[in-house]
Amino acid sequence: MFYPESRPRRLRKSEAMRKLISETNLHISNFIYPMFVAENIDKPIVIESMPGVYRYPVIDAIDRATQVFELGIPGILLFGIPGNKDATGSESLKPDGIVQKTVAEIKSANPEILVFTDVCLCEYTDHGHCGIIKDNDVDNDATLEVLAQQAVSHAKAGADMVAPSDMMDGRVGVIRKALDENGFSNVGIMSYAAKYCSAFYGPFREAAGSAPQFGNRKTYQMDPANAHEAMKEMELDIEEGADIIMVKPALSYLDIIAKVKERFDLPIAAYNVSGEYSMVKLMADKKLADERQLTLEILTSIKRAGADIIISYHAPDVAEWLNS
Ligand code: PBG
Repeated sequence: MFYPESRPRRLRKSEAMRKLISETNLHISNFIYPMFVAENIDKPIVIESMPGVYRYPVIDAIDRATQVFELGIPGILLFGIPGNKDATGSESLKPDGIVQKTVAEIKSANPEILVFTDVCLCEYTDHGHCGIIKDNDVDNDATLEVLAQQAVSHAKAGADMVAPSDMMDGRVGVIRKALDENGFSNVGIMSYAAKYCSAFYGPFREAAGSAPQFGNRKTYQMDPANAHEAMKEMELDIEEGADIIMVKPALSYLDIIAKVKERFDLPIAAYNVSGEYSMVKLMADKKLADERQLTLEILTSIKRAGADIIISYHAPDVAEWLNS
């Protein structure tokens, strides 16, 4: 049947009709809100490149996490910014380090709040790379040991899941083993399985002060040109024990999300990263788009591509929009 009998516009004639046939719906229960906690500050400090996003001292982080949870967002992803950085990121292992302290406080304020912690070295190293440097390169195997210790210390503090974002080979397996050996078999791993070497991380690196001081991340993060390689990374992380697999960034990688969804049966997270957030904010600021419409369109596309979980700085706004 063709026009004039067939008229697809019949299904678009009213708001109720459009909602009735909507194939993709955002639910706030599928969002995770990323948060930055920092040592050596005594009030929230706005991140210039990400309007509406702050670095929090521990005490304010607890309030913010509680607020966010009350909006219906089930969990947060914590990034720590230590007072001191060194070559091996040793601050990341301290039992009273910034992330460890914040996790423990949030969990004691409300154990229901899901707390995911970023496991990586770049926020803690003075050179800004995601691992230990040997001969001017990031040494994979030396880094694994530190990552495993970091994961265990987050678990001790009460993290529900650790989220390794470093892209070292073998880290999921090593972390799984270390968690199990230390009695944390219930602590999960949300693996940044396909993390691309992306220019969209720019604003985050301002937030975390984690831009590499020499070179770039191309020897560990993936080349944006590759899709098959992402499937290989996914397979390895699943074999090694990942509970949730992530694609990052989201917007330029919707095809990867769709492929992963087709191929694997684990929950898939997509990280709507800092640069994607800042682009929306800049457009809205210049009145080039309606912020709400633009944000919801982007997030819906990520969900439509196949993401089960969306990690987004927009989450609190989305909660308010979905409730209004
Ligand atoms: C690395 C890490 C990065 C992000 C999350 N974890 C940045 C990087 O790889 O340089 C980026 C998140 C964002 O841009 O919102 N630990």
